[in-house]
Amino acid sequence: MNKIFLNLGKQPLANSFLSSNSKKKQSKEFFYNLKVAFNTKNFLVSVANPVNPKFQYTDKYAHRASESITMKNAFAKTANKLSKKFSPKIVMEIGSNDGVFIKNFDRKKVIAIEPCKNLAKLTKNKYRTYPNFWTKSLAEKIFKKSKKADIIFSANTISHIPDLKQTFEAIELSLSFNGVLVIEDPSLMSVIGNNSYDQFYDEHVYVFSAIAISNVIKKANLRLFDAEKIETHGGSMRYYICKNNAKYRTTNKLKKILKEEKEKKLHHFKTYKDFSKKVKKSKIDLVKIFKRLKKENKKVISYGATYKSSTVFNYCNIGTNYIEYVTDTTINKQGKFTPGKHIPIISPDKGINKSVDYAFLGAWNFKKEILKKEKSFIKQGGRFITHVPSAKIISS
Ligand code: TMP
Repeated sequence: MNKIFLNLGKQPLANSFLSSNSKKKQSKEFFYNLKVAFNTKNFLVSVANPVNPKFQYTDKYAHRASESITMKNAFAKTANKLSKKFSPKIVMEIGSNDGVFIKNFDRKKVIAIEPCKNLAKLTKNKYRTYPNFWTKSLAEKIFKKSKKADIIFSANTISHIPDLKQTFEAIELSLSFNGVLVIEDPSLMSVIGNNSYDQFYDEHVYVFSAIAISNVIKKANLRLFDAEKIETHGGSMRYYICKNNAKYRTTNKLKKILKEEKEKKLHHFKTYKDFSKKVKKSKIDLVKIFKRLKKENKKVISYGATYKSSTVFNYCNIGTNYIEYVTDTTINKQGKFTPGKHIPIISPDKGINKSVDYAFLGAWNFKKEILKKEKSFIKQGGRFITHVPSAKIISS
């Protein structure tokens, strides 16, 4: 049974940046009520009313994984690690984005799946790329001709797909006998620990725990044999999954993680009720900071037009009343307006300068990278605001 524990209010699609803030454009904007639920049977945490993926993963998809040095380096390191550990002959990626992961492999080994046509175009000349959603019929089509995959990698994608049953069944029929599915997604333990409720938005249909993952893959004859905590996206987990009869033994690392998740009671509904109370407090505290800075006539901007910040702004009702503009390095976000709150987005070159007093860390998950990059902003007296793990101005 799905029990709702969090209501984040009326939200737009986090990826739907507006090309103009005209009344006509605004009137066409799609909104839905974002509620988050806990399944009392398999302990999955999910968006209660997911949006149809066809509206989300279109040929205008803005996110480019290569935009961040942190992510580029992380994917190169992971590719190297998986190559050494499993010596794969065939590597398939589900959600290959702009090719940031696959480009670390010999092109003959790679199969890429990417439903956003604008992104699939970026890799199709060099790599075997399917511009499709991941389904059983696609898996059957691919592996009728090809040898099965020794590694199936998927970062920040499986948690975006509402139909997990079909997803894992399609993976099971695509893996070689000792093939390994490696998935990375934001970790529920981190979300609860950091109070990072902004990990919930339309694309993040699920925020997984190891407990929930091990439950849901069982039906597809798969099993979880290893997991590790990773730093990306503000605290993620990497899961290693194989066919039921494959050679891998459950690792001590996984046993430890499962134990920790149980100690943190990620399988109890009360944990989520408590989390929901903390989220409400976070909203009150953050708005208080913005109100005070407005009263003091400070110039406040936001750093990174992230999907996560769309949840924060729409839930906390923060718009151009508090924030002058948002800066983002992604060229196709620049010149547009944030979903729901319509804050203009400009390039960091134009927007980060002496005149800015405070910048809200929309991209808080890249805090280390950003603080390093923005030393001169801080030196000039600029300060960052964050809401993770609690609403505050970061003292430098
Ligand atoms: P993500 O959290 O969904 O990966 O999005 C991060 C966004 O933040 C992306 O649009 C790029 C932007 N960004 C900057 O503008 N400056 C930066 O220094 C970093 C790291 C990200």
